[in-house]
Amino acid sequence: MLRSVIKGSGSALPKRVVTNDELASQIDTSDEWIVERTGISQRHIAGEDETTSTLATDAALAALADAGIDAKSIELIVLATATPDNTFPATATKVQHAIGCDGGIAFDVAAVCSGFLYALATADSMLRSGMAKRALVIGAETFSRILDWEDRGTCVLFGDGAGAVVLEAVESEEDGPGVLTTRLHADGEQHDLLYVDGGPSTTGTVGHVRMKGREVFRHAVVNLTDVLNEVLEDMNLSGDAIDWVVPHQANARILDATARKLGIAPEKVVVTVDQHANTSAASVPLAFDVARKDGRIKAGDLVMFEAMGGGFTWGASLVRM
Ligand code: ACO
Repeated sequence: MLRSVIKGSGSALPKRVVTNDELASQIDTSDEWIVERTGISQRHIAGEDETTSTLATDAALAALADAGIDAKSIELIVLATATPDNTFPATATKVQHAIGCDGGIAFDVAAVCSGFLYALATADSMLRSGMAKRALVIGAETFSRILDWEDRGTCVLFGDGAGAVVLEAVESEEDGPGVLTTRLHADGEQHDLLYVDGGPSTTGTVGHVRMKGREVFRHAVVNLTDVLNEVLEDMNLSGDAIDWVVPHQANARILDATARKLGIAPEKVVVTVDQHANTSAASVPLAFDVARKDGRIKAGDLVMFEAMGGGFTWGASLVRM
C-alpha cells in the first residue's frame, strides 16, 4: 500500500531565550507560579530579523538535510501557522522560494495549536492520492507577536519556533513505516474560550490572544483522551503498544493528565514545554525533532502525535517510523 513515510525532520528556534525570571521582572508573575501551573521554565522569542517564514525556512532546510533530499524534488509544502508573515500570500510560498524549490504546490493551513496535525493529514492524503511524491510539512509560529504582554494569564505561556518533516509516498508493507491513521475534529461553538481579538475582516488589526485558561484545560484533557482512543481503536491497539507520544506542548499538567487517562507511561511522553513553552503549530514537529535527534525515537517505533487548539480544533495521528 502507498504510505506517507517520514524521511527526515528539522527544527529552528529564535536566538533569544526569555526565562521566567526575566518575565517576572516585567509583569506581576513568578518563576514558581509559572513552573508549578505549566511546567514552563523558558521560551524563545523572535527578534526583529526573525519571522515565521525565516524560522520555517531554517526548519525546512534542516529537515531536507536530515533526509538527504534536494529542495527541488519537493512537490508540496503545507505550512501550519496562526502567525503568518503577511495576511497573504501564504507563508508556505515564501518558504518555497527561500529553500530554492521552484515548482509544485504550497499553501498554509490554519488550525492553531493542532495545525501540524491538520497539515500532516492534508499532505498525507495528497501524497496517497498521487498529487505529489515528496512533501514538506511545517509548523511555524511567532506567537510573541500576537500576545498581550500585559496579560499575565496568557503571555507567560507561549514561545516562538518551527519544526518540519519531509514526507515521501512509498510502497509500504502492512507493518512497514508511514502514517497509519489520523483523526481530526473541530468544534466552532467553543470559539470564545480561545481566540485572537482581531483580524483583517473584523478589526483590520492583528489582535491579541484571549483565553479562558481553566475551561480550555478541561476541554483539552477530555478531547485529547477521546481522539487518542479513536486512533488506538482504528488500529486495534492499546496504549501500551505506543513507543512514543509526541503531544502538543501546551502545559505539563495537560500532558500528564492525558497520558494517565490512557495508561501511557509518563517516560514515553516527549516533553519540551519546559524549554520551548507553547509554540502552537510548531510544538509537535519541534518536540519530534528533539526526540529523533537525541536518539529516543528510532526506526520501527510507533509514534503518536496529538494536539488541541483554538477553534476548538484537535486531532491525533499514529505513525510508524
Ligand atoms: N502569574 C501569577 N499569577 C497568575 C498568572 C501568572 N502568570 N496568571 C494568572 N494568575 C493568577 C490569576 O489571576 C488567579 O488569581 P486569583 O485566584 O487571585 O484570581 C490565579 O492565578 C489562578 O488563575 P487560573 O487562571 O484559575 O489558574 P489555573 O490554575 O487555571 O492556571 C493556566 C492557568 C496555566 C492558564 C491553566 O488554566 C492552563 O494551562 N490552561 C490551559 C490553557 C492552555 O494550555 N492553552 C494553550 C492553548 S490550548 C492548548 O494548547 C490545549
